[in-house]
Amino acid sequence: MLVIIAVVCAVLAIVLPRKTRDSPIVTPPSASPGTEHWPCREVLHSNFPDPNLLRHNGTWYAFATNNAAGHFGLSHVQLATSPDFVNWTLCDYTEDPLPKLGDWLVPKSNLWAPNVLQRADSKFVLYYAATAANATGNHCVGAAVGDSPQGPYDPLPTPLACPTEIGGAIDPSSIIDSDGSIYLAYKVDGNNRGNGGDCENTVPPLKDTPILLQKLEQDGTTPLGPPVKILDRTYEDGPLVEAPNLIRTVEGIYFLFFSSGCTRLPSYDVKYATSSNITGPYVRSPKRLLKTGDMGLLAPGSVSVTQDKSKWRMVFHARVKTDFGGVRAMYTANLIFNKTDASFDPAS
Ligand SMILES: *[C@@H]1O[C@H](CO)[C@@H](O)[C@H](O)[C@H]1NC(C)=O
Ligand SMILES: *[C@@H]1O[C@H](CO)[C@@H](O)[C@H](O)[C@H]1NC(C)=O
Ligand SMILES: *[C@@H]1O[C@H](CO)[C@@H](O)[C@H](O)[C@H]1NC(C)=O
Ligand SMILES: *[C@@H]1O[C@H](CO)[C@@H](O)[C@H](O)[C@H]1NC(C)=O
Ligand SMILES: *[C@@H]1O[C@H](CO)[C@@H](O)[C@H](O)[C@H]1NC(C)=O
Repeated sequence: MLVIIAVVCAVLAIVLPRKTRDSPIVTPPSASPGTEHWPCREVLHSNFPDPNLLRHNGTWYAFATNNAAGHFGLSHVQLATSPDFVNWTLCDYTEDPLPKLGDWLVPKSNLWAPNVLQRADSKFVLYYAATAANATGNHCVGAAVGDSPQGPYDPLPTPLACPTEIGGAIDPSSIIDSDGSIYLAYKVDGNNRGNGGDCENTVPPLKDTPILLQKLEQDGTTPLGPPVKILDRTYEDGPLVEAPNLIRTVEGIYFLFFSSGCTRLPSYDVKYATSSNITGPYVRSPKRLLKTGDMGLLAPGSVSVTQDKSKWRMVFHARVKTDFGGVRAMYTANLIFNKTDASFDPAS
């Protein structure tokens, strides 16, 4: 398996900035992050936005948005692998984990924020957001099923969540609860219908950008009851909250990580809220986990956290300058949880 992955994966990171709503419009600071003594490490110096972390059979997998990667239309999902969480290899874009798209999408769909879980029957479900064919200014959340982490995944014919009348749905993030129940958190893309300003939503009246939690059947693709709202933006969050990532610590506390601010601006950050019940209510932590300036990072956001034996591993993206322009590079860190507090493991 590892030999196949090694052959399939080649360092091929031709990144071209695109003028989409996610394009970087701020200049990264001259200080280059990734220095040894920092708890955060830059592991992919290429465009790898919204990374999602999966551990399977001794290999780390990271899936990422591909719309600004310069291979638009060739690869829907980016994949990188690592044997040790330190050395990461970007897979060739021709090895697309999601080669086919469902009929509900526009061809060459603008595909964002893939997220993968392994179900009880050992198959893998890949969740993603992409442009809905019936409302092309909107993204909706869909799913695809595969036999291995690297795919190929078979797309379902209809979306899982498609509230186009309130801006659509993006940033799917799955969790298997302690009782085996599967939940999918996602963001209602309300700022997509905003009145302008940062990320289209700092000119009143501001739109809601709720994080919803949808319980799923054991197939990981069929909704079970209506979604529940577990978070929404506040005045301090600026235009939005998005990029949810939900985990349950060994102490039984649910941590809901999310980003606020605007992804294109230094205001983008990482916050978290905690609850003793997966459906909430979630109480926001008074501290931010990451913000611009921490360890020289610019606009850090979109975390994905996974437990590996006794260690909690995290990936996220931040803006960096490359020969191809400003991109969102992938970083890693280790986290320590203490009741309702999350902090960086300085030893990572
Ligand atoms: C796990 O990895 C090992 C070593 O690469 C391989 O021999 C084995 O087939 C893999 N098992 C599964 C279930 O993928
Ligand atoms: C990462 O890979 C390089 C080159 O293959 C190797 O020299 C280095 O020891 C590896 N690092 C770790 C921590 O395994
Ligand atoms: C688009 O289709 C989805 C279901 O596939 C539906 O939920 C949504 O309301 C539709 N939007 C419009 C504008 O027709
Ligand atoms: C979590 O909250 C829901 C909704 O209020 C409730 O039905 C459920 O019993 C709670 N679960 C636990 C484990 O307390
Ligand atoms: C957890 O936090 C409490 C309260 O701040 C502190 O007293 C305790 O030492 C911490 N435990 C660990 C293992 O760091």
